[in-house]
Amino acid sequence: MKVTVFGIGYVGLVQAAVLAEVGHDVCCVDVDAQKVENLKNGIIPIYEPGLTPLVKSNYEAGRLLFTTDAKAAVEFGEIQFIAVGTPPDEDGSADLQYVQAVARTIATYMPEPRIVIDKSTVPVGTGDKVKATIAETLAARGADIEFHVVSNPEFLKEGAAVSDCMRPDRIVIGTESDHVKDVMTELYAPFNRNHDRIIFMDIRSAELTKYAANCMLATKISFMNEMANIAEMVGADIENVRNGIGSDERIGYHFIYPGCGYGGSCFPKDVQALVKTSEQIGYDSQILKAVESVNAKQKTKLFELINRHFNGDLAGKTVALWGLSFKPKTDDMREASSRVLMELLWEAGAKVQAFDPEAMEETQRIYGSRADLNLMGTKEAALNGADMLVICTEWQSFRAPDFDLIKAQLAEPVIFDGRNLYDPQRLEDRGINYYAIGRGL
Ligand code: UGA
Repeated sequence: MKVTVFGIGYVGLVQAAVLAEVGHDVCCVDVDAQKVENLKNGIIPIYEPGLTPLVKSNYEAGRLLFTTDAKAAVEFGEIQFIAVGTPPDEDGSADLQYVQAVARTIATYMPEPRIVIDKSTVPVGTGDKVKATIAETLAARGADIEFHVVSNPEFLKEGAAVSDCMRPDRIVIGTESDHVKDVMTELYAPFNRNHDRIIFMDIRSAELTKYAANCMLATKISFMNEMANIAEMVGADIENVRNGIGSDERIGYHFIYPGCGYGGSCFPKDVQALVKTSEQIGYDSQILKAVESVNAKQKTKLFELINRHFNGDLAGKTVALWGLSFKPKTDDMREASSRVLMELLWEAGAKVQAFDPEAMEETQRIYGSRADLNLMGTKEAALNGADMLVICTEWQSFRAPDFDLIKAQLAEPVIFDGRNLYDPQRLEDRGINYYAIGRGL
């Protein structure tokens, strides 16, 4: 089948590469000419395991095209994916200007019937808005061409995007049209083996499903962070509590890891956007607001622990910081807890010596050169002459470090762990002062 994908971001590029891999012909279009040129030369704009070889081989095989020519792209595919960004605007609502611009472009150039699929995370009711935009633009052209608008939200996780997309646990499709159901079933057939993963529903339910999924996961995390704070104060260990409740299948072990707060391009934005949507319809969503405020507070947790330990005297201190990305296996720094921590540390007059396996360039891009930030080549180098070690991201390579070296390098043997990577008893035995999240023993 011939497919066009508007927007070569995380979602668009991964989806396009995976569709090409199973044999569809995919044309990716973006307004960023440099990005398009780079992709043609095998330079991938994001770090995502497995993505580079997939893009390269399918580009070389001619199944994956990159262009800035929107007209040619609209003419290319019967199926047109919209996978452009929906960043929060000033009040937290999702900004739909890019989605609507693509809808107008498709309607301006479509020569014959098109199925327009919304992959971007968009507020409930966007499908209707996109429909209206396409209808208006077609009318202005004096064209009477059939089209369908479909909601098909994406559930991939950064760091596991390719495998999530190759082996989706569900394929949610919002449409009322039997023709569209047939086309979508054919498009996704290669991903729908062994058991049926396609769930058809109306457009609004599909749009809300995406928000409900992310908000439920964010709620689990904030709930656990709240439990961790309680555990700390009552002298319990949240890691025991986590095991204790996770064994109940109704609760499960997934997404109940306490930490220094959730980040990324999805949870913070989507929780905010659903709060906003609720407000707009006159509903006060108290749970979602609490999820957001607990998380904002949790992102300052490490700083509070550090500040308390050093009696508020952080001026001139050097902090070895391991982990900058919002989670492992990505270079994404959007809404990362490390940023909140670094900014608080700088304000207090401390210096940061940071290491991250992938996010160093991104950190440099965001903060530029500053005297109180040193990006170090290895995790060991970050320890050099530091007063403490702080961990913000649970990269595998941080899980079993050389504790003797840590102890020898630090001015004072103290670790602040925002991801509960180590056994408190072992560190105590080694004479290392260990602060973690919710471990009040
Ligand atoms: C999230 C969802 O997990 C995907 O299903 C969804 O498709 C995606 O958003 C999206 O809407 O595009 P992602 O943002 O890549 O994926 O990252 P997650 O793996 O969900 O992690 C989000 C944050 O939660 C990270 O900062 C992570 O450290 C934190 N987290 C996660 C915890 O603090 N505790 C946990 O138990 C799990």
